[in-house]
Amino acid sequence: MSETVRGVIARAIGAPVELVDVVIPDPGPHDVVVRVQACGVCHTDLHYREGGINDEFPFLLGHEAAGVVETVGAAVTHVSPGDFVVLNWRAVCGECRACKRGRPWYCFASDNASKRMTLTDGTELSPALGIGAFADKTLVHERQCTKVDPEADPAVAGLLGCGVMAGIGAAMNTGNVSRGDTVAVIGCGGVGDAAIAGARLAGARTIVAIDRDPRKLTWAKEFGATHTVDASAEDVVARVQELTDGFGADVVIDAVGRPETWKQAFYGRDLAGTVVLVGVPTPDMTIEMPLIDLFSRGGALKSSWYGDCLPERDFPMLVDLYRQGRLPLDRFVTERIALDEVERAFTAMHAGEVLRSVVVW
Ligand SMILES: NC(=O)c1ccc[n+]([C@@H]2O[C@H](COP(=O)([O-])OP(=O)(O)OC[C@H]3O[C@@H](n4cnc5c(N)ncnc54)[C@H](O)[C@@H]3O)[C@@H](O)[C@H]2O)c1
Ligand SMILES: [Zn+2]
Ligand SMILES: [Zn+2]
Repeated sequence: MSETVRGVIARAIGAPVELVDVVIPDPGPHDVVVRVQACGVCHTDLHYREGGINDEFPFLLGHEAAGVVETVGAAVTHVSPGDFVVLNWRAVCGECRACKRGRPWYCFASDNASKRMTLTDGTELSPALGIGAFADKTLVHERQCTKVDPEADPAVAGLLGCGVMAGIGAAMNTGNVSRGDTVAVIGCGGVGDAAIAGARLAGARTIVAIDRDPRKLTWAKEFGATHTVDASAEDVVARVQELTDGFGADVVIDAVGRPETWKQAFYGRDLAGTVVLVGVPTPDMTIEMPLIDLFSRGGALKSSWYGDCLPERDFPMLVDLYRQGRLPLDRFVTERIALDEVERAFTAMHAGEVLRSVVVW
């Protein structure tokens, strides 16, 4: 039986989000209905609202979520009603060319629910990142659900579903930060601070946090930054070199995603070092550089999609590290808000007042 719940949608570019009735269809064979307990507000939700991802409006926003499995389709074996799960947007298919080559963290055909959630007039909704969790309940594929320690706070655990995992994974998986490395992170929002926490966990020796908002730099230290650079007042490349014996960092992570920050990452890196782009540029952005610099500086220029994570491997492990006091995941939760406060949370995010606002039920 389909049911109607409340959900937050973006109807058109730039229009304020709306709290409306959303119809959840009966789950298909491999689908499950999850009762959402918490969902973080990510910059990517705002990118959707601003038409920066695609134009398949209306979107059902929200994708950094944890909750409890409520109803399961006839063929579901991966989870059962009552399981506490973190939702993911990489439900590894096992069949695509990336999976077949043994690189499932690139899976190009991640599974989603077989049916669409709709408005009451039948209009199909596009769930953000195939999730759509600014809603009392949401419909996802069974393998979009990853079981984690049910003792974990849903508001904290849910953040692993996107930005925090993207940041930690940008450092640990994509950047392959190792013991003794020097690391610089440009942009210290939720994703950048997670990269800092990941670099610390991996044993980085020097971690330089870079932001143009001094408040963000104060928070970055709580996640493990050893040095900070105010990008609004200082020369970022020169400062990173100065803090790394004049050479540049082994790994520089761009958690902003703009041409100027990517260039700082490129030039703030030691010879043969690694650049990781985890911030998402908009389609209009371009970059022009001397090709000889790309050759002569060598190294690896990588992008990080979702921190190259494998949810089934990484989510339970990171929740355990959090529960053991080794990863300060709770510090990402700046405020807990109600479902009708998402628009206000976008404003707070834009003003740099929060790392994460988390909708809780
Ligand atoms: N690759 C992925 O899989 C993935 C996943 C989630 C989010 N993201 C992207 O990561 C980016 C960051 O997300 P967030 O939630 O942390 O956003 P956020 O808005 O919370 O943080 C961005 C930070 O960058 C700082 N900043 C902006 N311009 C800067 C500049 N020129 N120099 C230095 N600092 C600057 C801001 O002050 C802010 O602290 C977004 O583009 C988001 O879409 C990527
Ligand atoms: Zn695949
Ligand atoms: Zn996100």
